[in-house]
Amino acid sequence: MAKDDEHDDDAPESEGSNDDEAAESEKIVASGVPADDRPRRLGVGVDVGGSGIKASAVDLDTGELVGLRHRVPTPQPSAPEAVIASIRRMVKKLEKEVGLDPAAPIGVGFPAVVVDGVTKSAANVDPSWIDFEADPALERATGHPVFVINDADAAGVAEMRYGAGVGQKGTVFLITLGTGTGSALFYDGMLVPNLELGHMEIRGRDAEKRSASAARLRRGLSWKAWAADLDEHLLAIEKLFSPRLFIIGGGVSKRAEKFIPRLTVKADVVPAKLLNDAGIVGAAMAATERATARGA
Ligand code: BGC
Repeated sequence: MAKDDEHDDDAPESEGSNDDEAAESEKIVASGVPADDRPRRLGVGVDVGGSGIKASAVDLDTGELVGLRHRVPTPQPSAPEAVIASIRRMVKKLEKEVGLDPAAPIGVGFPAVVVDGVTKSAANVDPSWIDFEADPALERATGHPVFVINDADAAGVAEMRYGAGVGQKGTVFLITLGTGTGSALFYDGMLVPNLELGHMEIRGRDAEKRSASAARLRRGLSWKAWAADLDEHLLAIEKLFSPRLFIIGGGVSKRAEKFIPRLTVKADVVPAKLLNDAGIVGAAMAATERATARGA
């Protein structure tokens, strides 16, 4: 059994303080450095995953996390009401912590197809998210403008702006490996949203059932054996799209040396520079750009 957990970078460094909301079922765990008083343009990024929900304030000019990074386990079942309640609690905490403006937009990276604020699929979350009007529900719950975006698209946006994709032209993929396998496609830096290559069929089933980070743990595979499965998925993508570069994100990107050297695709393959924070940063940026476009 492989003993590393793909979420090991989420290990708490310090416990969040016991505020009035801590009586609720799950505790928000915080890590990082408290915010200083410097004036900044702030947004909030939330990254909803199959096992955890992470949130932080983000400096929109530098892409850096500001203050503490909060994490709660994803409620099970992960129905909209429970997930939204967790996000609301985290946003309230961030409001107190960094003095968030009520008009500050919140970006939420979510593991589904997201079209016009409506979640359209639910591979690794509760099926009641299918056709759920997520933007308005989260706006009502938080009191902020909210923009929900596919989680891999969010991570890709951040990597292209601040990470491994900076200045990269042509076809570039961000592949996130976590509970599922997410994919984001960029051409000359422009996102083509909602690509779902985790669900392309390989050996008669969803490719993510073998290539996701969770698949390595679930099947008790060595890094070598799992790298071969991931390689098969990337080769299939390469055959169809001929990308120049694959950027690999998700918690497992921290262990890049264990699997990237074993991959045989022709394209360059590099780990995400923002590691597991890319989803938070990209969601915040995408929300702010959307708010600006709307003239908010
Ligand atoms: C979902 C995608 C998501 C990916 C990574 C897949 O199962 O269908 O929408 O981006 O997992 O979380």
